Amino acid sequence: MSKTKLPNYEQHGQTITFDYSNHQLQLTVLTPEIVRVFEYRGNDGSSYAIEGSKEQKTDFTIKQIDDHYELRTSALTIKLDAGQHLDVYDQKGNPLVTDYRGKRQLLNKGIDKVHERLVKAEGHSVSESTVKSDSGYYQIVKSLAADEQLYGLGDKTGYLNKRGYEYDNWNVDNPNPQLENFTKLYKSIPVMLGLKNGRPYGLFFDNTYKSHFDMGKENSNYYFYTAVDGNIDYYVLGGRSLKDVVTNYTYLTGRVPLPQKWTLGYQQSRWGYSASQKEVQDIVDGLKKYDLPCDAIHFDVDYMRGYRVFTWNKDNYNGNPKKFVSDLKNQGIKVVPIIDPGVKKDPEYQTYASGIKNGYFVTSPDGKVYINKVWPGDSAFPDFGNPKVRQWWANNNKFLTDMEVSGVWIDMNEPASFEGQIPDNIIFSDENKKSTHKKMHNVYGHNMARATYAGLKKQQDKRPFVITRAAYAGTQKYSTIWTGDNRSIWPHIQMMIPQLCNLGMSGFSFVGTDIGGFASDTTSELLTRWIEAAIFSPLLRNHSAMGTRHQEPWSFGEPTLSIYRKYLKLRYHFIPYLYDLFAQESKNGLPIMRPLVLNYDNDPRTREINDEFMVGDNVLVAPIVEPSQAKRLVYLPEGQWIDFWNNREYEGQQDIVMDAPLDKLPLFIKKNTILPWGKSVDHVSEKADQEITFKVFGDHADYQHYQDDGTDFNYQDGEFNQYRIAVDGDNVNVQLKHHGFKSAYEKITVELPDGKNIFKLYNNGKYQDQ
Ligand code: GLC
Repeated sequence: MSKTKLPNYEQHGQTITFDYSNHQLQLTVLTPEIVRVFEYRGNDGSSYAIEGSKEQKTDFTIKQIDDHYELRTSALTIKLDAGQHLDVYDQKGNPLVTDYRGKRQLLNKGIDKVHERLVKAEGHSVSESTVKSDSGYYQIVKSLAADEQLYGLGDKTGYLNKRGYEYDNWNVDNPNPQLENFTKLYKSIPVMLGLKNGRPYGLFFDNTYKSHFDMGKENSNYYFYTAVDGNIDYYVLGGRSLKDVVTNYTYLTGRVPLPQKWTLGYQQSRWGYSASQKEVQDIVDGLKKYDLPCDAIHFDVDYMRGYRVFTWNKDNYNGNPKKFVSDLKNQGIKVVPIIDPGVKKDPEYQTYASGIKNGYFVTSPDGKVYINKVWPGDSAFPDFGNPKVRQWWANNNKFLTDMEVSGVWIDMNEPASFEGQIPDNIIFSDENKKSTHKKMHNVYGHNMARATYAGLKKQQDKRPFVITRAAYAGTQKYSTIWTGDNRSIWPHIQMMIPQLCNLGMSGFSFVGTDIGGFASDTTSELLTRWIEAAIFSPLLRNHSAMGTRHQEPWSFGEPTLSIYRKYLKLRYHFIPYLYDLFAQESKNGLPIMRPLVLNYDNDPRTREINDEFMVGDNVLVAPIVEPSQAKRLVYLPEGQWIDFWNNREYEGQQDIVMDAPLDKLPLFIKKNTILPWGKSVDHVSEKADQEITFKVFGDHADYQHYQDDGTDFNYQDGEFNQYRIAVDGDNVNVQLKHHGFKSAYEKITVELPDGKNIFKLYNNGKYQDQ
């Protein structure tokens, strides 16, 4: 029993404020499975991650029981004692998140100041936590069980289970080879998911200041979160499964909205192409010549006039880039140009002049516009935290949408700067208040993405396609992301799987890496295995740096070209399935690309798998991600699995040895699954398909298929179709459950393992077997 007295508390609606002697602690019940823990520490302003109130009317009780208070919802019990320990249990009383009672033990790495200098002299780095206490401004330390795995954290390096590593939340552009010793990358997404003795939970720390996660590296008895400033503001997320936790987290911070369908097609990019129309045309001709389906070419910084954003160097585009963009569109290829935040310091240049006139750039504390260097040399940085600046930036995009581009790729928005980091005290806005870089750094890319999304939405009246490098929790509402400057090295094809899977569990379902690797020189084998391994990544883009070996699909001749083509064609068959998954994701937040543990969290074997993943519930992918390998072990979870290539069946809950010569991606479909199967196309058509095929794996299955025009927002007014395909032995049934989009399929083919059934749509809105 604690000797100190329990604090008094007051309840207002679903918020309870506990009056401790030195501060107040608030618990707010948002839903039965989401509780917010909040302690004000002088930081005003609202969340960037969460928009609007997420509080739902929820029944709960609060009682004093012995030495503590107990707050109970139908799903969670929270105990709080006089010593301010906060412990969360599931409804059966199993611990999920409990405050660690002991003292932190700093990691002893056996070094002192004198030796530190010596070690550094050879060029080694000594991590900060070796030499100083890493306690930050506050610390939240939670107990770690012997059987506990930790996931999420957005785009961090390393493996699926984050346990045993430390990470920082501070967006950086560090192009060195990003390996598991890197503690930070381009995004800060401070959500973690855990399985404590097999029981799922999540924690989301909503603080934009620099923060740190130690996932049981310092000591295997606890994990902790520290931040350099800001309030204590975190959310405990419960749920019966890890999937529920992801659904709860994306309820809070938002979901990836349904994308335009063509954005699921293949996209080709390289830094350098867009220097001239001719170079781009050569790539488009190559794609056609080699029979490679493709939907977009990305234009890197070279299309601009001296790296001035919202300009186009017309001289290299026969004086009329708009015509070229439109000609490409007529050939089925869309253009997605890059935009960086840095605005060239040039009084003659309109964007700079208008930003200066309106006071839209960040400034030094003395009020002078802050200048640092990026691609255009001396540049000013738009103050995206200010709503007026976001509006201005949204309008600036009109230059591009008038050119008829189909999306905008935003980059360097950590923000990156070539002449040292932007100092903490540079003045940035936090909505209508003055703030500093220290607080606004991690949401710079987020606010730029938000502005770009708003501009595109207004100007194009289509679902905006924005791709960003920097992000914060919640950016998924406005933008797809790619993982920045990876390299053409095997560790990076390996890292892609856990990185994209953890991003998916952190709310970011529309993700991809630079296929083939951005920096360094790729090899034919690496490129081949990369297109296989990445073929289900929602964003499918091959991109490379200027000055590296070319990695267009034809760059290595045969057999690379044929294998690359085979997988691109496979991808296009799967687009209706991916689109169905996005339609579901926009409602439940569950990612397209998933670690096995998300679908099978009761199976301990799935908890550490780094080299397999799933696409939705029923497709399992086990790529080769090592050189010179032609066989691999594949773990199959419970159920029966069908080898996609030869229909051979396997029992689950075992490891099988799969042959995987260079042209083979091991791919399994769970028995009794129906997959929609798009027809062979060169580009995703904007015309509605008149027919579709469903492939049946097994002998009974049920599938819901979604269809709309694939481009605009009319689906939100009911302009979509929902189909149900049901198979029970020879009995096949096709129904149009919701008919809101006029062009329903005229013909539907259901391919069974031993034959096919063809259905035609009749005037009564019913499908009849032919
Ligand atoms: C950054 C981007 C990369 C781009 C380059 C030039 O390094 O991450 O994708 O090609 O800038 O714009």
